[in-house]
Amino acid sequence: MCGIVGYIGERNSIPILIEGLKRLEYRGYDSAGVGVIIDNTCKVIKSKGKVSVLEDKIKKNYISSPFGIAHTRWATHGEPNEINAHPHFNGDNTLFLIHNGIIENFTVLKKELQSKGYEFRSETDSEVLVHLIDRFLKKGNNLLEAVRYALNEVQGTYGIAVGYLNEPDKIVVAKKGSPLVIGIGDNENFIASDVNALIAHTSQVVYLEDGEVAAVYKDRFEAKTIDDELIQKEIEEVTIELNEISRGDYKHFMLKEIMEQPQSVKNSFRGRLLYEEGTSKLGGLVGYEQRIAESDRIIICACGTSWHAGLVGEYMLEQFTGIPVEVEYASEFRYRNPIVTKKDTILFISQSGETADTLAAMKEAKRRGALVLGICNAVGSSIARESKAGVYIHAGPEIGVASTKAFTSQLVVLALITILIARRRNLSLIDGQSIIRELDLIPEKISQILELNDHIEAIAEKFVNAKNFLYLGRGYNFPVALEGALKLKEISYIHAEGYPAAEMKHGPIALIDENMPTVFIAPKDSVYDKVLSNIEEVNARNGKIIAITTESDSHLDEMAEFTIQIPNTIRMLMPILTAVPLQLLAYHIAVKKGLNVDQPRNLAKSVTVE
Ligand code: M6R
Repeated sequence: MCGIVGYIGERNSIPILIEGLKRLEYRGYDSAGVGVIIDNTCKVIKSKGKVSVLEDKIKKNYISSPFGIAHTRWATHGEPNEINAHPHFNGDNTLFLIHNGIIENFTVLKKELQSKGYEFRSETDSEVLVHLIDRFLKKGNNLLEAVRYALNEVQGTYGIAVGYLNEPDKIVVAKKGSPLVIGIGDNENFIASDVNALIAHTSQVVYLEDGEVAAVYKDRFEAKTIDDELIQKEIEEVTIELNEISRGDYKHFMLKEIMEQPQSVKNSFRGRLLYEEGTSKLGGLVGYEQRIAESDRIIICACGTSWHAGLVGEYMLEQFTGIPVEVEYASEFRYRNPIVTKKDTILFISQSGETADTLAAMKEAKRRGALVLGICNAVGSSIARESKAGVYIHAGPEIGVASTKAFTSQLVVLALITILIARRRNLSLIDGQSIIRELDLIPEKISQILELNDHIEAIAEKFVNAKNFLYLGRGYNFPVALEGALKLKEISYIHAEGYPAAEMKHGPIALIDENMPTVFIAPKDSVYDKVLSNIEEVNARNGKIIAITTESDSHLDEMAEFTIQIPNTIRMLMPILTAVPLQLLAYHIAVKKGLNVDQPRNLAKSVTVE
């Protein structure tokens, strides 16, 4: 949520900042701004809307500076407009600041600063930071000290970058709860909230941890804790390639990411399958396998799409390991005094690894002594670093706001964890081997589903004007129904609900009429006949039916207005296949409505506020 990028060196920072902001735009995109030091003055240019609007504005008043910080915003406090956009200035325009996160005690701080004569220009919480730092500068501190002192008075979360006219040789950055990374160049350095903004320039990075501040010069950096202890930071190598975060020839990142799934799914299990032993090997869990297998209970904690993956994980783990599993919304887990014991294992699933609710829940679970494991996509992310052990899903960077390939890779990793633990309990060698054989076939089966793209697009055409959608599935495919509905609503703004198919008759059936499309996820599995009965119930009320089913199901052809026939697999892996046509359906409906599927309104890729 919100993106930060900065540069200090010898080149003109402007093109670097604009390019960096564009790479971060998926994190927030309602307004943007840059701040530079030029001809002995600080200059800030801001605009409402996308980064391209800011870019046009900057082009009109040509500026060049080897020092700059920039921000793309996702509004929390104050509407998205030019005044509320970052950077924010102090009173005499000598100090400017960009901020990700939320300052929880900003009302108190604001009142206090106002009583001392500070005037505020914006409605944001962030502006208090710049005035607070200014106050400590005016007491004779240097910039790094002033930032440290100011942050000691702040409650909340922040990733900040600050520029100061009197100390133009450094950008000062700090982090708590919002990511901040320094990119190391040759006689130039970079800062960003996300390595994606840096990899065009450097693969050498330094991740700041919570409670750390740093002064970044063009040829070095100095890091401290906010309590003034000097710290030696390790320089790490990032392995992401530029083409992984580029759209290539695809019209949208979302489509690219859907189409990448045969490969991303393969990457999630590559090198992790032990065919002969009928189990998996997960480097990040080595040494913890037995501890997990002996857990009294497994809790899965996540948000959004990752929570849906967790629900599928519940079905997998309970079926094959016999360990009771609970799935929690991270936001609820943290605030409802959950019962957690030292014999519990808690899996935290997060694509971005930065979701504030999930991170906070993880810290709480750690405090209560449970074994805390992370399942993340973004390498080096806060959740990955905070967890005791864990598994990367290796789906590759996901840029589209609607999560697609991360979901299917999360399911693969949950399947790998399931067989790892189940083989230590009572899953037989033969059964373990047969799951692995099926997993190996999944990428090819996804490729076959992707060949149905035109067919699915033609179905989408018929539903562009629908106002509501119902998604129904049973067993393993109930969470897929929830995920299909979420995909549709977040990018097409069509109201959609997911339900267990049998629940329909307990309420949602009242909605069915000739205008109500219902998507049934109905592969030929043990609950197929039950789902057929639910389909009959919708038919009897003239509802329109789209059915996802497995190949050669002519029976459903007669019952549903549209069918999408996909390859079959074992029940536990079926969601990896059934999710794909639903992603394509949502994508095509949204595109046909003329919407920006990669940057849907009001959303941001990683939700770093609670
Ligand atoms: O990065 P995370 O997996 O922690 O994100 C969780 C949700 O914010 C995320 O899945 C969200 O629901 C997506 N927009 C779904 O497409």
